[in-house]
Amino acid sequence: TRVAVVFGGRSSEHEVSCQSAKSVLPYLDPDRFEVVPVGITPQGQWALGTDPNALEAGTGNLPTLRGRSDITPVEPGQALKDVDVVFPLLHGAWGEDGTIQGLLELGGVPYVGPGVFASAAAMDKVFAKKILQAEGLDVGRFVALDRSATTLTLDEREHLGLPVFVKPSRAGSSVGISKVNDWADLDAAIFEARQHDPKVIVEAAVANPREIELAVLEFPDGRVEASLPAELRPVGAGADWYDFEAKYVNDSYEADIPAKLDDETTARVRELAVTAFKALDCQGLARVDFFLTEQNELIVNELNTMPGFTPISMYPKAWDATGIDFPTLLTTLVETAIA
Ligand code: DAL
Ligand code: MG
Repeated sequence: TRVAVVFGGRSSEHEVSCQSAKSVLPYLDPDRFEVVPVGITPQGQWALGTDPNALEAGTGNLPTLRGRSDITPVEPGQALKDVDVVFPLLHGAWGEDGTIQGLLELGGVPYVGPGVFASAAAMDKVFAKKILQAEGLDVGRFVALDRSATTLTLDEREHLGLPVFVKPSRAGSSVGISKVNDWADLDAAIFEARQHDPKVIVEAAVANPREIELAVLEFPDGRVEASLPAELRPVGAGADWYDFEAKYVNDSYEADIPAKLDDETTARVRELAVTAFKALDCQGLARVDFFLTEQNELIVNELNTMPGFTPISMYPKAWDATGIDFPTLLTTLVETAIA
């Protein structure tokens, strides 16, 4: 089976995607799969034969295709010629958002992960919350700001309360997100988020949340299961929230896998993760991120339909702790895609 691993891409998570590819490639079973690495540059050029292991380090010491002048671009159709299945290991816009999924649907090529609608819906925090809410899931208080709104009304400020998180509606890895503790800083935070997406979401911050993440996997027979919950815990005084630096640059967070939760909460969060996965009509995989409040409520923060696969990433680690090692996980993902 020829598997194209597509990585890099035009989004702000280009480097994270290169790192994910670098971690995945050595673990795709060589007895089953012939791997074709396909890089996409930050400018959107497709390049055959780019080896993520040979990439230079960029932002946060992550590998990158940025600034490379030695790439001979090819058409996507040529890059994916004679490929049996695609692993679109792209994070963020133009990859995790349904766009490459649409291209692959048009070409009739099977691929790992959710389809066009689920990818687009999960990428857009506003739409994702609306759909999850309709399914009865708690998504917390939020206000969506359309392209023309530059601030919140007094009513909206009262509804949310401080602090709030201001986020681009469609982005990942915490890029463009600010925590606002004083309304005086709100408009600048909206302006910053808007550099990444004209659509902005403002969310009420949960007080002292525990961050719980679950990996959801679809098996070739159609069964959907959630891993044991994992917990991200800040260490020391350095980190206020789980931002890009905390994710990829420094060691300000530690993971407990499995999370130290009572049996009832563990069972409840695993069920909610599968409910969220199905609410958005996901396929293949997703990582579902929750906040556990001091009142023991579980709030869905977001779904990532192509979660990180870096060495520190929760998706593979959570499955490993649940009894599915990395090579078996990758085989399952590819086999589900072609089942
Ligand atoms: N958006 C990053 C890759 C994640 O969710 O892991
Ligand atoms: Mg995300």
